Amino acid sequence: MAIPTSRAKESATITIDSEKCEGCGQCVKVCSNLGLTLVGHKAAVSENQIFGCVACGHCMMVCPTGAIAIEGRTLSPVQLFNLPDKKSAPTYDNLLALLQRRRSIRKFKDKPVENEKINQILEAAQTAPMGLPPSDVHVLVLENKTQVRTFAEEFSVYLKSIRWMTSNWFMTMMRLFWGKANDEMMREFIKPVFDIYVDEMDKGDNWINYDAPLAMYFYGTPYTDPADPIIAATYAMLAGESLGLGTCMLGAVHPFIQNGKKARLFREKWGIKFKSREGLFVIFGYSDVHFKRGIKRTFADIHRAS
Ligand SMILES: Cc1cc2nc3c(=O)[nH]c(=O)nc-3n(C[C@H](O)[C@H](O)[C@H](O)COP(=O)(O)O)c2cc1C
Repeated sequence: MAIPTSRAKESATITIDSEKCEGCGQCVKVCSNLGLTLVGHKAAVSENQIFGCVACGHCMMVCPTGAIAIEGRTLSPVQLFNLPDKKSAPTYDNLLALLQRRRSIRKFKDKPVENEKINQILEAAQTAPMGLPPSDVHVLVLENKTQVRTFAEEFSVYLKSIRWMTSNWFMTMMRLFWGKANDEMMREFIKPVFDIYVDEMDKGDNWINYDAPLAMYFYGTPYTDPADPIIAATYAMLAGESLGLGTCMLGAVHPFIQNGKKARLFREKWGIKFKSREGLFVIFGYSDVHFKRGIKRTFADIHRAS
């Protein structure tokens, strides 16, 4: 049995070099698929696997002698690398400082983001965990201010063509289906946002993606765990922060480009290959705003089970 994603339909193959295997059992311990077993002090492929091998690669990564090779589902041993020194990883205090210094930035200097930084952001984002390997996250990169602005202008034109969705009659009718909370969100948040996006763009002001010099849209496929693009976007945002860039997540574009023929045409125009349950934009650039203090935020609730 193989778990499908948009990139892989087959299981990966596991090859064990029993000459090299020292029988330490680390690979057996680490496989969450019950995919490996020890037979006579040597690792062997188990007959009790839950699924076919999904190619998480953990067995290859723990093996001290390089006795295991996973091939397939976009993975192979050539992708292995030596771990960075533990001492080079940020401490909790360093990480917390990065997190506390981050703010959503919506004003940027008129300075492009260097190509090297774009690549570094993408490299870091690709370390994100995913519901199931191989990652089924897709990324659209708008790599300069012109592309970001053009996207926003075309999005605004597209929004105008579906403006009837924020009309009173439509929202009143839909309340029966989508309930009170969604009705309130539509009237108090979505409609005003919709109006600002369209009306301000008509005046030349871009409230959609703020004319950032770089934007990335993380989205999935019908196979993708909805959390995956969001996690990847979060990694990208933090990578951007670590590179001295201001960042902001933008949630408002994704839901509008999912349903209907016009949405599909808009997606196709921008090479967005799939509709997906979740997706998120992140914008990046050199901040034109400098915060002097942080602010302590809290979750709605943290409940420790007793
Ligand atoms: C999922 C998500 C979607 C967001 N969407 C938008 C958006 O569409 N436009 C915007 O200006 N800010 C957006 N933001 C930024 C939030 O408004 C911001 O995080 C919040 O105001 C708190 O500010 P802080 O990030 O500086 O702590 C979004 C943030 C998240 C996490």
